[in-house]
Amino acid sequence: MEKKFILALDQGTTSSRAIVFDHNGQIKSVAQKEFTQYFPQPGWVEHNPNEIWSSQASVIAEAISAIDINGLDIAGIGITNQRETTIVWDIDTEEPIYNAIVWQDRRTAEYCDKLKAQGLTDKIHEKTGLIVDAYFSGTKIKWILDNVPGARKRAEMGKLRFGNVDAWLVWRLTRGEVHVTDVTNASRTMLFNIHDLKWDEDLLKLLDIPLSMMPEVKSSSEIYGHTKTTIFAHEVPISGIAGDQQAALFGQMCIEPGAIKNTYGTGCFVMLNTGRKPVMSKNNLLTTIAWKIGDRVDYALEGSIYVGGSVVQWLRDGLGFITSSSEIEDLASTVPDSGGVYFVPALTGLAAPYWDQYSRGTIVGITRGTTRAHIARAALDGIAFQTYDIAQAMAKDMEAPLTELKVDGGASRNNLLMQYQSNLLGIKVVRPKITETTALGAAYLAGLAVGFWKDIDEIKNQWQVERSFEPLADSEEIAAAKAGWADAIGRTLTNR
Ligand code: G3P
Repeated sequence: MEKKFILALDQGTTSSRAIVFDHNGQIKSVAQKEFTQYFPQPGWVEHNPNEIWSSQASVIAEAISAIDINGLDIAGIGITNQRETTIVWDIDTEEPIYNAIVWQDRRTAEYCDKLKAQGLTDKIHEKTGLIVDAYFSGTKIKWILDNVPGARKRAEMGKLRFGNVDAWLVWRLTRGEVHVTDVTNASRTMLFNIHDLKWDEDLLKLLDIPLSMMPEVKSSSEIYGHTKTTIFAHEVPISGIAGDQQAALFGQMCIEPGAIKNTYGTGCFVMLNTGRKPVMSKNNLLTTIAWKIGDRVDYALEGSIYVGGSVVQWLRDGLGFITSSSEIEDLASTVPDSGGVYFVPALTGLAAPYWDQYSRGTIVGITRGTTRAHIARAALDGIAFQTYDIAQAMAKDMEAPLTELKVDGGASRNNLLMQYQSNLLGIKVVRPKITETTALGAAYLAGLAVGFWKDIDEIKNQWQVERSFEPLADSEEIAAAKAGWADAIGRTLTNR
């Protein structure tokens, strides 16, 4: 029987999703479930790994039963996930030994400062392409081993396993048969050498993490194993894995060097394909693996923004400016501009290109005439300015101007924001028909491995533009706005 579908699992920071795609890359069914966020102390963010799994399992069941299919109809499963989030489990009990420490969690910031003070920044950057920061998995694993009673002993006995969410889902889907990750997720651990594609023994030693805990690192498109859970009724190959931003880059078909995308989600993640060569940033961007397909590895430069769309949630929940996030565009459109107000949304510090763990949100330029509409507008502008800062750094690293930006994620539906983004960058901003690019990318990776799609060319022909935004703006006004933003950033940074 011909298998007609690919299932993508998109395990994100706030919800688990399952999406069924057909051969034309069209969505046939979607299910989504939010799960609990734990904030045990200021700056700490945790998830319950069992809830990650149960929410993912329940959306799989919902998505496939909605169109009355089972494992027999599914050619392959692609997994894409919130990256860096760290889970450690015991192979005897099959239970996590601690909650998942989420990528946003800052508990290891001071330890990272110590690594920097020891002069290790350059060495770590050369090997991993990363900036020393609490964002990445390595120091989170170390924290678990140092703080959970008995953990280090169990780890030394070879009884513990580490995984990012991809590895955890594969482990659960295969009932503990397979412990793997892919190169993209590995490249976010601060323990993986992105040049020789191996766990780095020096770094494992530095952080005191036994190699036996680490998953086997595979490509992003191959059969890793088959499902053993009852959800599908029949075994299904798991055939694609990529971190969510890398999957979005692939789903946007940014497959040529120089192609660039921004995903406007909770945070924003700008990624530029640099082809077969890792470009080591001189401007505080991350060098990361875009994907590995067959023997070919592609690299990317990444600029991560911690607070993107979540600033809109804060205006909604923290200030009560709006009752639903979609109202922001109407509110901000009631004024022609921000009236000289600048909002740097450093609510959890600033990531690229500033990497200031201790800065906090700043609003400057408030006058008697300032209204909530100006603040709303400044909040949207702040998302676009942060993206602009990263695009500047990318152009410097590449020694070439950028040509167009592909966009996806929830806030990419905001036309006001997209137009301002284009005005600031001075280039075309392109929004695709299917903005579920993260899941689509994972589906494509999975489909390629099982021959569901013949090759990348076949996929490329499916990709369609929904709307493009051309830069329209007075250049003096834009120059003044950029100067105002630079001044506001200067007032926000603590590490200058
Ligand atoms: O690096 C973190 C990123 O992968 C999280 O993405 O979409 O779950 O917020 P998201």
